[in-house]
Amino acid sequence: MTDSITITDNRSGESIEIPIMNGGVSASEWSKLLPGVWFYDPGFMSTAACESAITYLDGEAGILRYRGYPIEQLAENSTYLEVAYLLLHGELPTIEQYAIWKNEITNHTFIHENVRKRFLEGFHYDAHPMGMLVSAVAALSTFYLDAKEIFDPGSRNKQIIRLIAKMPTLAAAAHRFSVGMPFVYPDNSLDFADNFLSMLWKVAEPRFEANPVLAHALDVLFILHADHEQNCSTTAMRVVGSSHSDPYSATAAAAAALYGPRHGGANEAVIRMLTDIGTIDNVPDFIATVKSGHGQRLQGFGHRVYKSYDPRAKIVKQIAYEVFEVTGKNPLLDIALKLEEIALSDEYFTSRHLYPNVDFYSGLIYQAMGFPMEMFTVLFSIPRTVGWLAHWQEMLDQDSKIARPRQLYIGSEPRDYTPIGGR
Ligand code: CMC
Repeated sequence: MTDSITITDNRSGESIEIPIMNGGVSASEWSKLLPGVWFYDPGFMSTAACESAITYLDGEAGILRYRGYPIEQLAENSTYLEVAYLLLHGELPTIEQYAIWKNEITNHTFIHENVRKRFLEGFHYDAHPMGMLVSAVAALSTFYLDAKEIFDPGSRNKQIIRLIAKMPTLAAAAHRFSVGMPFVYPDNSLDFADNFLSMLWKVAEPRFEANPVLAHALDVLFILHADHEQNCSTTAMRVVGSSHSDPYSATAAAAAALYGPRHGGANEAVIRMLTDIGTIDNVPDFIATVKSGHGQRLQGFGHRVYKSYDPRAKIVKQIAYEVFEVTGKNPLLDIALKLEEIALSDEYFTSRHLYPNVDFYSGLIYQAMGFPMEMFTVLFSIPRTVGWLAHWQEMLDQDSKIARPRQLYIGSEPRDYTPIGGR
């Protein structure tokens, strides 16, 4: 059996054989036979837009690996900063490499005073922190003019470090502003997650000591959210980056894509849904409404790629119990468990391969830890920044073309302009 496909243009009878490489066929080969005939693939359901060596995802089998390492092993044994290094560099760091990496990140956590004082504090008092974050990240490009030097290895590395390091600071600043609390400067003696919690929750104590269970839970959640191959926001990062804009502008675009409820906003939607359901007794009625197909979806269920249980959701569920040991159980947990139990035994959901995704339980943890719902997507943006940057860097190193899809035109035929009085 040959690893190839043959396509025939029935209009001319001409054929072309195209090899299947890494599970795909080259569209440029197809174009040789059929110039001007485009693949129609809204939502990129069947299109591989790039080659990537970063993350492996098998949605049928529920497998997720970063650079070949199973997500379960990384969540169990690693730290977010180590995983960040892995995603960017392709290998786990040695002791020396890790020490340098951690030191560099730690020493770039501060943001320019003008970003906070003039920019963030200029928002309306009830601004959504995600809107603040998206704008603040874009604004950073105006502070680091060398960011445009995207093919200078030193400059590129510096912007990557800045973005990873400053994201938690911007996120915490957005939160503090939205609750009317003063900004807390980074504490460079703390680990990544501990420092973030300090910037969020510190009040008058000289040094904030985060609960180690909560700091560890957050670090694991950061690992789980660090990358997920060609998702909507990563695609936005690659598309914007392909025009060679600077990494702050591209990251802002990626964060904007993440903001939507179909993507990073889903865990917020889960909490709203669970709150609306109210009690376990209402679960069967809610499931019936979802099944009636009147636009109501079971939030936190289903995934474009996973057609079995999202491996991240399993880990998040386990983390939830550890967090609830400290914070007390989130009262919405029982409703979530009941929803999962009913959905997993209901033909509507099983036949459509709808299983809990990462967002089904993560919102419950964030809520129990004291985060307002508006912060949930912000919490997703912090670790996903490294995934975006790893893909951005990979794309630039591949000397990729500017992203520019085709369209199938369905508009009017040519017609003549009519002056306004004659319409
Ligand atoms: N509840 C009920 N029905 C659903 C759901 C759901 N959550 N998701 C999909 N379906 C049904 C849908 O109605 C359709 O049924 P039918 O074939 O009868 O028309 C079928 O399943 C296929 O749905 P689709 O919209 O074509 O699937 P998709 O791959 O385009 O959508 C999704 C994927 C994630 C947008 C969708 O499953 C969804 O809206 N889920 C709820 C929101 C959510 O949890 N999003 C977080 C995704 S994970 C985080 C991330 O990686 O960003």
